[in-house]
Amino acid sequence: MNSSRANKFFMALLATIFVVMTTSLLSDSLFHSPAPEKAGFAIEVADGSAPAAGGGAPAKEEVSIATLLQTADAERGKNVFKRCAACHTNEKGGANKVGPNLYGIVDRPAASVDGFGYSAAMKEFAAGGNKWDFDHLNKFLTSPKGFIKGTSMGFAGDKKDNERADLIAFLATLADTPVPMPSADAAPAAEAPAAEEPAKEEPAPAAPAEDKPAEEAPAPAPAN
Ligand code: HEC
Repeated sequence: MNSSRANKFFMALLATIFVVMTTSLLSDSLFHSPAPEKAGFAIEVADGSAPAAGGGAPAKEEVSIATLLQTADAERGKNVFKRCAACHTNEKGGANKVGPNLYGIVDRPAASVDGFGYSAAMKEFAAGGNKWDFDHLNKFLTSPKGFIKGTSMGFAGDKKDNERADLIAFLATLADTPVPMPSADAAPAAEAPAAEEPAKEEPAPAAPAEDKPAEEAPAPAPAN
């Protein structure tokens, strides 16, 4: 190979490398998007409390909001509201963002903020004369799309009873004259009284691991 052919070959090789590298750098910078710190939509998976078809155990969210509010804390709820603040303002006369302003939301008629573009589903809910009483808020915030199918609110819902109650207690403070909290006796006690367990925050005393072998020792089978 004479030197000019070697040169051409070398140039072609360089050009190829150049093109390949440029393309990969460019596509990297064009298409690279940093992973968001927190996914926009928390996909909440049923935590096993959902009743299996025809199952016996009542779903957790059936604990009435009146009961849950007995132990709710608006201060903690203010913290929970940070998740809503991306889309909602909460001060009087606050602007609409992705979602409508939430001042005075408790007992406010649904879809009633002027100038906010509600979804057809939300307007339909409102047309039924519905307002955001504690019960509706509780159901909506547990699962927005489960309660109002077709709502444009892109929030997965908060399935944690206590946290949601704290949040609703906070929402109730956003008013000139806060709506009084419902009293526990007003709760429609539709479920079995077995649901009356206190919060199961503490882990059940699990059997220590060392006990395992003993547990697994074959129990003397009753002869029959
Ligand atoms: C991703 C944005 C987004 C987040 C996060 C969000 N919302 Fe919304 N919210 C909306 C939108 C959009 C609507 C209007 C829904 C419709 O028209 O179907 C809405 C509607 C509502 C309504 C009904 C208001 C009315 O005037 O009828 C309530 C109540 C509400 N949101 C509460 C909350 C609370 C509380 C949180 C936090 C737990 C929250 N939202 C989180 C976007 C959001």
